[in-house]
Amino acid sequence: MRSESVRSEEAIRALLAGLRDPHTGRSLGEDGSLKGVGIAGERVLVDIVLAYPAAGWRQALMEEVRSLLRERLGLSEVTVSVAHRIHAHEVQAGLTPLPEVKNILAVASGKGGVGKSAIAVNLALALAAEGARAGVLDADLYGPSLPTMTGTIGPPGTTPERRILPKRAHGLELMSIGYLLGEDAPVIWRGPMATQALQQLLTETAWEGLDYLVIDLPPGTGDIQLTLCQRVPLSGAVIVTTPQDLSLVDAQRALKMFEKVAVPVLGVVENMSLYRCPHCGHEEAIFGTGAGERIAARYGVPLLGRLPLDPRIRADADGGLPTVAADPESEHSLAFRAIARKAAAQLSLRARSRALSMPRIVIE
Ligand SMILES: Nc1ncnc2c1ncn2[C@@H]1O[C@H](COP(=O)(O)OP(=O)(O)OP(=O)(O)O)[C@@H](O)[C@H]1O
Ligand SMILES: [Mg+2]
Repeated sequence: MRSESVRSEEAIRALLAGLRDPHTGRSLGEDGSLKGVGIAGERVLVDIVLAYPAAGWRQALMEEVRSLLRERLGLSEVTVSVAHRIHAHEVQAGLTPLPEVKNILAVASGKGGVGKSAIAVNLALALAAEGARAGVLDADLYGPSLPTMTGTIGPPGTTPERRILPKRAHGLELMSIGYLLGEDAPVIWRGPMATQALQQLLTETAWEGLDYLVIDLPPGTGDIQLTLCQRVPLSGAVIVTTPQDLSLVDAQRALKMFEKVAVPVLGVVENMSLYRCPHCGHEEAIFGTGAGERIAARYGVPLLGRLPLDPRIRADADGGLPTVAADPESEHSLAFRAIARKAAAQLSLRARSRALSMPRIVIE
């Protein structure tokens, strides 16, 4: 009896180890997320711990495990547990990670106006919707847009130790230079002062405890952006591009910049890829097609996903309630959440930080 159950455990494990995770591109056995298989009488228990938040994939994964065991091994009483454990990942050599923030992700673009700020805030919201603790630091000193996008205006509070309190809205921790200056204040800083101001904002904010802090970098790949990427302890970067050829050249510059500072690029998001007419539903590739795919193939970085040009995304962001906060189950929100899972999964494949190794286990 004993040897039979051991044999079955092995058969179950072998079968499930081959199951492919579409976010990491690896099998559950390969990336170590299949933790345990147990047999208790007629019941089979399967324990999976993913290294990234995936609330939106959990049900589908459980169903896939159950149907695989039913169809291939004839097992019908299967209990699947799917949890996640988010780790801190390595940052650039010589930099120390922030104690309260496991991973800082930069969202960058080669040029302005491609939707970087809208993607940054929706990415953070999507990570939160998937089960992570997330925040946003608006690092665009010359055009802070986080206060308007999240409906959080006015000066932030301080702690008794005189650290700045992040704003809280839509389940995120938020910080922007716009809170301190007011949005219309002329920003006279240039170069070193700007980078210093940002570093100060990052370290003097009393982040309560984040799995991911998304930084909305200023547009472009000039000295300021390069210095920021050298000084801020980053675990990874996400590049936003639109499908035009010119934008593609700019996105390549952003890729090169991260290569120079040894920050892994987790992938590319293609924004404004298709326009869907709100009246007739007809879809039109106004800016051409395939730019994200081309850049992903050429530089060997994943295409995290595409977002259409949709007036609703603009209205949500400009109205203070970004798309994923407005309705986390809408079509576009699900696209943002798939992008967030993929970016976090790509990060989970990277080396873990030795400085911060206090994983938080979430049992769902
Ligand atoms: N997919 C989209 N569909 C429709 N509108 C969008 C989309 N993405 C962004 N927008 C809108 O386009 C405008 C520019 O986007 P956003 O401010 O996010 O770009 P940015 O790259 O951060 O610009 P900047 O270089 O000024 O910082 C905003 O009004 C935003 O709401
Ligand atoms: Mg912006």
